[in-house]
Amino acid sequence: MSNTQFFDEFDFENRIMDANAIPEDTPEGDNPLRPKNLDEYIGQDKVKDNLRVYIEAAKLRHETLDHVLLYGPPGLGKTTLAAIIANELGVNIRITSGPAIEKPGDLAALLTNLNEGDVLFIDEIHRLSRAVEEVLYPSMEDFAIDIITGKGQMAASYHLPLPHFTLVGATTRAGQLTAPLRDRFGVLLRLELYTPEELAQIVMRSAGIIGIKIDYEGAIEIASRSRGTPRIANRMLKRVRDFAQVMSDGVITLDTARTALDRLEIDELGLDQNDRRMLEAIIRFYNGGPVGLETLAAAIGEEAVTIEDVYEPYLMQIGFLSRTPRGRCITAEACRHLGYAFPKGAVGAQPTLFDN
Ligand code: ADE
Repeated sequence: MSNTQFFDEFDFENRIMDANAIPEDTPEGDNPLRPKNLDEYIGQDKVKDNLRVYIEAAKLRHETLDHVLLYGPPGLGKTTLAAIIANELGVNIRITSGPAIEKPGDLAALLTNLNEGDVLFIDEIHRLSRAVEEVLYPSMEDFAIDIITGKGQMAASYHLPLPHFTLVGATTRAGQLTAPLRDRFGVLLRLELYTPEELAQIVMRSAGIIGIKIDYEGAIEIASRSRGTPRIANRMLKRVRDFAQVMSDGVITLDTARTALDRLEIDELGLDQNDRRMLEAIIRFYNGGPVGLETLAAAIGEEAVTIEDVYEPYLMQIGFLSRTPRGRCITAEACRHLGYAFPKGAVGAQPTLFDN
């Protein structure tokens, strides 16, 4: 089979396992599955405990909360947490993203429209342009911006004070933030992948909200196939509900969850066809690795950043993939799971007594 044929079967369009947001996740208006305050928010206990203290302290002092940077893989609830921070502070939130702020003027417009104490949420903050970042620094530090109008002799500079605000930045890649930007956040919070037990709680809560009956075994089955990500768990819940309503009595049990998820070709570890094919490509075309990220990306027709942000965190967490300076390598566990022999001579092969 040629490389191209192999990847023609890749299903990029309808990826239930994609942790990136798709329109269905955030219907117009409010997403009812999103928790509104810290008490409703399940998991991320360390982050919640710290946030509670910082929010309480800011309120006691009648000050704005220090700027907050949330980082971690997609789908873990960074936008949800930003909205919760605003809600707990009793202020409004303005939501935007790095790529949406094209020019310094766009940022100036956003900042000058804030009210005292508001939260400004910038998703994908690592994607801000340098020119925009230059305006952001003084606004974070001094709550003021300098605007220059006109050119040459007509140029004029205005120092514009801003309302005090809290910037909540979110990124999947804290390493890509410039040092001056990172240094201006007083609070840095890393979100971790959720445990199956936490995800099961989230699934039970969501099922209650959308009005579908589910037992704990059904919830834990969905949870353990959701690769640590609430966004995937909630999306899976909706698909399993379809199966439960059409094929059984509308209750999600272990049996209905298993049947539905098997039909969706999501295995018991939460790997879908695309994960399996990527891992198989490393085994079959690159002898288990190492293979460079860009080479792998080109081979499977996927963007390198998607591989890094969406596929890899979970595959590394379950010990199926390792990153080495020379590239990505498959592990013996991944080969066992996929039913392949561990390639001879692959990096990561454990030498045995009989290897010379
Ligand atoms: N829905 C999505 N993420 C959630 C979380 N962390 N807690 C409760 N409900 C959620």
